[in-house]
Amino acid sequence: MSHGPTALVVVGAGGHGRELMDVVEAVNAVRPTYELLGVVDDGQPDLNQLFRRKVRHLGPVRLLAEIDAEYVVGIGAPAIRRAIDSMATAWGRKAATLVHPRAVIGRDVLLGSGSVVCALASITTNVRTGRHVHLNIATTVAHDCRLGDYVTLSPGAHVSGTVTLEDDVTIGTGAMVIQGLTIGTGTTVGAGAAVIRSLPAGVVAVGVPARPRVPVTVEQNHAGS
Ligand SMILES: CC(C)(COP(=O)(O)OP(=O)(O)OC[C@H]1O[C@@H](n2cnc3c(N)ncnc32)[C@H](O)[C@@H]1OP(=O)(O)O)[C@@H](O)C(=O)NCCC(=O)NCCS
Repeated sequence: MSHGPTALVVVGAGGHGRELMDVVEAVNAVRPTYELLGVVDDGQPDLNQLFRRKVRHLGPVRLLAEIDAEYVVGIGAPAIRRAIDSMATAWGRKAATLVHPRAVIGRDVLLGSGSVVCALASITTNVRTGRHVHLNIATTVAHDCRLGDYVTLSPGAHVSGTVTLEDDVTIGTGAMVIQGLTIGTGTTVGAGAAVIRSLPAGVVAVGVPARPRVPVTVEQNHAGS
């Protein structure tokens, strides 16, 4: 028995959301898989942009409660993906997992629900991701890595083998992480950083080598002024 395409809604009409629409279209070009019903967004999306790509703004995110469709979240911030995932799951919605046909995925790779692998991303072998993990364009994840829920790899980020990225970690564009390290929950690695030591949870680390940025205190801020 053949089934028709699965109804799909993208959450978020910003740049990342529209990039995910490209992934949906690329998947459909290989095999008609999804019927993209439109996008939900609580803001005021640029309707011209959506019109040019023939995607409807259906309304605010809460509409997802009433639409019988799978969803993907086209929003970079892990905390927002987490919040939307929790609402959508409570509404009984199922997250779609999208893999661009020009991504390269090796054997023994398990992607959590809602995860998105963009064009030119590569994952080698024995990799597990949590829910709603986003591997942006041209990212690489090598052997034996573990990526928690809502992890984001920005374009061109490289994660070497046997690395653990805990929940909500964001790796900035062009950054790299050498093998065997752990990056703690919620930590952000800045664009272009080279992570050569494990990082604790909840820090912003930048530079080559990457070091956690020391938060500026009020006193320091006023020193000398
Ligand atoms: C690290 C990051 C999160 C910090 O953002 P922020 O808190 O707004 O930081 P600011 O721009 O206020 O900069 C604060 C300081 O950190 C420095 N800094 C910021 N980002 C840096 C980076 N990636 N590498 C080195 N230094 C950096 C700034 O030069 C500034 O230093 P100064 O105080 O000596 O002038 C951000 O700069 C970054 O790299 N984000 C990744 C973005 C990305 O990859 N986007 C992809 C979207 S698809």
